[in-house]
Amino acid sequence: MGFPRGLMGAGGTVGRHKWKNEDKPVRRMRRVYPVKSRGAAILMNMLRFPTDFEFGVATAAYQIEGAVNEDGRVPSHWDTFSHTPGKTWQGDTGDIACDHYHRYREDVQMLAELGVQSYRFSLAWPRIIPEPGRINDKGLDFYRRLLDELDRYQIRPAVTLYHWDLPQWLADRGGWVNRDVVHYFADYAEVAFRALGNRVPRWITHNEPWCTAFLGYALGEHAPGHRDWGEAVNASHHVLVSHGLAVQAFRAANLSGDIGITLNLNVVDAASDDPQDLEAAQRADGFSNRWFLDPLFRGRYPEDMVRLFEPWVSLDTVVQPGDLKVLAEPIDFLGVNYYSRAVVYAKPGEGLLQVGHRPAPADRVTDMGWEIHPHSLYRLLSRLQREYTRLPLYITENGAAFPDRVANDGTVHDPERVQFLQDHFAAAHRFIAEGGHLKGYYVWSLMDNFEWAFGYSKRFGLVYVDYPTQKRIWKDSARWYQKLILANRARAMDLENVDDHHTGEHH
Ligand code: FCB
Repeated sequence: MGFPRGLMGAGGTVGRHKWKNEDKPVRRMRRVYPVKSRGAAILMNMLRFPTDFEFGVATAAYQIEGAVNEDGRVPSHWDTFSHTPGKTWQGDTGDIACDHYHRYREDVQMLAELGVQSYRFSLAWPRIIPEPGRINDKGLDFYRRLLDELDRYQIRPAVTLYHWDLPQWLADRGGWVNRDVVHYFADYAEVAFRALGNRVPRWITHNEPWCTAFLGYALGEHAPGHRDWGEAVNASHHVLVSHGLAVQAFRAANLSGDIGITLNLNVVDAASDDPQDLEAAQRADGFSNRWFLDPLFRGRYPEDMVRLFEPWVSLDTVVQPGDLKVLAEPIDFLGVNYYSRAVVYAKPGEGLLQVGHRPAPADRVTDMGWEIHPHSLYRLLSRLQREYTRLPLYITENGAAFPDRVANDGTVHDPERVQFLQDHFAAAHRFIAEGGHLKGYYVWSLMDNFEWAFGYSKRFGLVYVDYPTQKRIWKDSARWYQKLILANRARAMDLENVDDHHTGEHH
């Protein structure tokens, strides 16, 4: 199947679409999308992706589920952390979150209405393994019910095993710093594969190992809130080894699905051509990107970073024989979480990296202060393919927080988010059009949720959550996404049927 070369989104014009290897191009499009109705015009102006491209949204257990004491779930280190005064915005916790544990049916219905082909969510380890060696079937049942529901609408699940909610009983044993964790994780993965494996086509072992290791153990911003570089380096290695063991367990279980890992990756630019700044950019890139990409795809840690960490921890004391082979176990795809780029300069005395961050102009940042830079998504994907892997890539998270408000008309108008998504989808589209191997895109997030240390102060959802009532209110961005998906699905289906579709949609 061919794919479009020209962009047809913002800035593109209807007459510009050109198809590569497409048998019945423009003429046929004209026929099925008569320009006389407004709905049709909107659909025509949408980006066209390959027909097998998957549109999705993503969430994570602790951020949406709530029900922290139900059906045998035990505490995670995020319960402990969020309940510790001063750790999260206004002391927010995930105790209730979006109450998804009780409202999952309604939430899956929203997924169906959005039209997503795939839904990425995570399993809560503390629901499934409440103490060493014990399996809590009631915890698994929740995910079975969720999978049933997704099945009803033919939405393909993409399941993350670890999205940061480590059982407290493991945190008490040293968490990711204690090497034993790798076996606990492999055991947990095996339980999940055995219970749900034949129903899940796509598995993600870890979400963002960088955050687990460095935000959690070096920078103190995430659970468990430690500040120790030695611990963090240990943790990062153990996360990667546990990933490799889980991949092995998956292969051993002989399941038909795919398995991969999700990294949060950045594009790092130097603030100037000054050699000092260029070196600073190297270090920042080593820290956020190469520290994980190199071992996963080349079976070794980057030398410059090993040297940088040396005063805190010698890698020889961390890496055991055979580890580098285990963690580089072949995977089926790479998940990429992309939010922003970083512009850095040399700043002697500034932490371990000696790097300063140049803030972006105020009119180009999200509510997180992250620079909006869609072109860097294209650059990132291109680099991954050029330097690291020809494996299929998925954008497993991309999205933006803005200070949304419910308007007088009862809905939420979020033009910045629509623009953000439009521009990032366009960047992804360009990558594909140039031959890039990108197979799907999950918007973060389905709905507003517990944004870790920022609590409920940051809203990333396509759907607004009114926390006191738990009412879900569609933002304009949700409607925009629905149209993007509809336009693409319509094309994927028999084109003859397209007219019926949007007649129903726009009357
Ligand atoms: C990512 C996390 C996700 C969410 C987004 C905004 O780092 O994986 O849970 O917090 O950022």
